Amino acid sequence: MRIALINGSPKGSKSASQVILNFAKGTLPKYIDFVSINLKDANVKKNVLRKIAGCDVLIWAFPLYVDAVPSHVLPWFYELEKYFNDREGPKPRVYALVNCGFYEADQNEIMLEIIKNWCAKSGLIWGQGIGFGAGGVFYGLRNIPLGKWPFKNMEKTLKSFAVNLLAEKSAPDLFVSPNFPRFSYKIVAEFGWRRAIIRNGLKLRDLNRKIAL
Ligand SMILES: Cc1cc2nc3c(=O)[nH]c(=O)nc-3n(C[C@H](O)[C@H](O)[C@H](O)COP(=O)(O)O)c2cc1C
Repeated sequence: MRIALINGSPKGSKSASQVILNFAKGTLPKYIDFVSINLKDANVKKNVLRKIAGCDVLIWAFPLYVDAVPSHVLPWFYELEKYFNDREGPKPRVYALVNCGFYEADQNEIMLEIIKNWCAKSGLIWGQGIGFGAGGVFYGLRNIPLGKWPFKNMEKTLKSFAVNLLAEKSAPDLFVSPNFPRFSYKIVAEFGWRRAIIRNGLKLRDLNRKIAL
């Protein structure tokens, strides 16, 4: 079985999407042929497209951007849709691991619907989606193994995902947030924003600035 691990975060390997893909890979058997792909920009390359299309399973990992898929991924979706519709033969089953900045994992529900619609248009079988909340801290906590605090619940969810994937089954979507309360996530996230705005040469009060369109 060949599985494409497709990271759709523009941050590439330094992203929550990568942390989630690494966790998912760790729950799957070693004999699997994994193909790791980073889609950091909208520049669709034919050889990468063929690499993706040649897999039995696609696991997409995305950040949630404005309740949807990041825009640089859309050209890839359009080109893959054409590619799959122009060809006969077996097509990959699709799974998606999506994360958002909000604590509540169900914020990702709309994005999973978008990916399901893309599957339907491309003639692909939808496997399962998992929405992860509180993605803002995943990269910072990347050295903590899956199954340890705060990634205990995520281990259960990803293990059941692996069972479905290996059995080539489709299953209902699941939503999971790390094992810490919402208020502590908010404190850490707000601290991160304050640090980031100072590093970028602005003032704390700029966090509340309204940008007129
Ligand atoms: C342009 C942009 C739009 C975003 N929109 C949302 C959103 O609608 N809802 C949300 O919960 N988080 C939103 N976020 C936060 C990201 O989903 C969050 O930081 C995520 O953990 C990033 O994942 P990554 O590290 O895999 O790129 C947005 C971030 C950016 C940069």
